[in-house]
Amino acid sequence: MAHHTESRRMQLQGRIGTWLRRPLAHKLRSLSNKATGVVHWIEDTLFEQWYGLDCSGFIDPHALETSYSSALAHSRAYQAVTCAAIRELLDEAKKTGIVFEHFIDLGSGKGKACFYAAARYRFRRFIGVEFSAPLVQAADRNIKKFGADNICFVNADAADFCLPAGDNLVYLFNPFGEAILVEFLKNNMDKFRRSRSIIAYANDQHRLCLAQAGFVTLFRNQESQSSLHQYPSP
Ligand SMILES: C[S@@+](CC[C@H](N)C(=O)[O-])C[C@H]1O[C@@H](n2cnc3c(N)ncnc32)[C@H](O)[C@@H]1O
Repeated sequence: MAHHTESRRMQLQGRIGTWLRRPLAHKLRSLSNKATGVVHWIEDTLFEQWYGLDCSGFIDPHALETSYSSALAHSRAYQAVTCAAIRELLDEAKKTGIVFEHFIDLGSGKGKACFYAAARYRFRRFIGVEFSAPLVQAADRNIKKFGADNICFVNADAADFCLPAGDNLVYLFNPFGEAILVEFLKNNMDKFRRSRSIIAYANDQHRLCLAQAGFVTLFRNQESQSSLHQYPSP
């Protein structure tokens, strides 16, 4: 027991020593990142508590339940976006001056992005597309708490989803890999060509697919890895 306590103390001293030896700029950056993390955690907790939502949890892709088995191999984990991350994209989208009709969340999970957008921004309708039925059920339970009649969640593979006509803000929080994204773009290219719809991409790992499909980048934050993309008007 005494030996265990002694080794814990030495480990701690070692860690403190390493931290103290770091350059001042690194120390300040790491403290500032930790403080930002705490502020975001408080904001997210307050947001969910205020509306009585449950968007919690982290679900590994292999643990997701879905009947869309061919899409499962391309899925990323379920995790709700932070209020700060979605706000950055919605604020940038607002600066374009486009009055969007629909907010579409591809891979909507328990619905956090739709609820945040509905609470703070103006859209006519909010549609979440999610391929895991239990997550759609969780999002539907959240709608009851949130109390809105212009939000809906559909259980579908985003690859097959057809955008409604009009100007859409299509939001993604790194939900899936290239194969699904490319298929979704292929099925909706006509809608992007005929409207001023924008893709808002948080944790934009496959943004090159958008460039390859002819989209231009309107905004990108290298640090947060968030970006906005639009198909150029003729
Ligand atoms: C990182 S979570 C994002 C959750 C939510 N959009 C948010 O921002 O809080 C990604 C979600 O995409 C879903 N997903 C993965 N592949 C999908 C597909 N092909 N079609 C629809 N949803 C998919 C996953 O089940 C997961 O819930």
